[in-house]
Amino acid sequence: MTNASDTASQQDRVVIFDTTLRDGEQSPGATMTHDEKLEIAEMLDDMGVDIIEAGFPIASEGDFKAVSEIAERSKNSVICGLSRANFKDIDRCFEAVKHAAQPRIHTFIGTSPLHREIPGLSMDEMADKIHETVSHARNLCDNVQWSPMDATRTEEDYLCRVIEIAIKAGATTINIPDTVGYTAPRESAELIKMLLERVPGADEIVFATHCHNDLGMATANSLAAVEAGARQIECTINGLGERAGNTALEEVVMALKVRNDIMPFTTGIDSRRLMQISRRVATVSGFPVQYNKAIVGKNAFAHESGIHQDGMLKNAETFEIMRPEDVGLSGTSLPLGKHSGRAALRAKLAELGFDVGDNQLKDVFVRFKALADRKKEVHDDDVLALMRDSASEA
Ligand code: KIV
Ligand code: ZN
Repeated sequence: MTNASDTASQQDRVVIFDTTLRDGEQSPGATMTHDEKLEIAEMLDDMGVDIIEAGFPIASEGDFKAVSEIAERSKNSVICGLSRANFKDIDRCFEAVKHAAQPRIHTFIGTSPLHREIPGLSMDEMADKIHETVSHARNLCDNVQWSPMDATRTEEDYLCRVIEIAIKAGATTINIPDTVGYTAPRESAELIKMLLERVPGADEIVFATHCHNDLGMATANSLAAVEAGARQIECTINGLGERAGNTALEEVVMALKVRNDIMPFTTGIDSRRLMQISRRVATVSGFPVQYNKAIVGKNAFAHESGIHQDGMLKNAETFEIMRPEDVGLSGTSLPLGKHSGRAALRAKLAELGFDVGDNQLKDVFVRFKALADRKKEVHDDDVLALMRDSASEA
């Protein structure tokens, strides 16, 4: 007989690779200071992120220093740096990550027709370059990730060929970037399935999925890839990243937790830390979180309408599929506004210490509705003022 914990331990573990400090920071205007990067890295490490992509060491002296210091300070996470496909980049990357207890070099090259055109390499020349650069990285470090940038727009045969070369040269993780957010969930799954079937050696490495959100499908594409056999998700806090951003870490983590019935995978993330890190990343990057953002938006656990508030007061599961405490909130919020009903007003009055009878509730409710028509949100001070007016005119 299996019990719940046996079942959990039999579930496949999905590795969470956070790139807030690399792809996230590449978002125009999201630059963070050295100290802010160290602080975010510490929070990521503490919440159970398996791999932190700490930066792009060749990009600047500042990035090199940040990656080196994050590597020195890391406690549990693997620390990864990004490098293009040349020895100078790879050496610089290793110089920075080598301070970590568990370093990783991530090297990439654009493999789609459009991306091959830029350096003017033929398919054979690029294949040779991949062999040389991945071998070089592997001579420096046992943990090497290779990415064919724009993989989802690369010819299938060529993609299989270059992945096989990278595996033979020593790559331990093969990342499949949907660089321009072009793929759709079914395609994302089929691509991973095809690679697992066709590429020799594919069963010896980990496939990662790296999705961008240009069509709003990054989370769905990442989860579809996992269902097809990928075991590493690349993501960022709040979905920060180039253009429309990357897969949001909080979304994939909570989707795997809440819908574990149909996606039986575990992560090592302590989800109760999600809200705190989301707020901190929003502050240091200067990118506020949209109110209706899944999981971490201000309204993700807030209900204003009368029917919803009444339902929530009776049973929280009526309109919530996860507990606010599981993402680090103290509880659900029932803001008062023009759509709110008597039940929520009565609950608010009770919270403020008033035990009102039906007649007084009726009076305050009329005053409340009149105010709510003029004001977006009715705050505690407003409710207290309504009670004073009601009492003085009684
Ligand atoms: O989106 C992308 O292709 C990338 C690569 C560098 C992995 O971020
Ligand atoms: Zn990217």
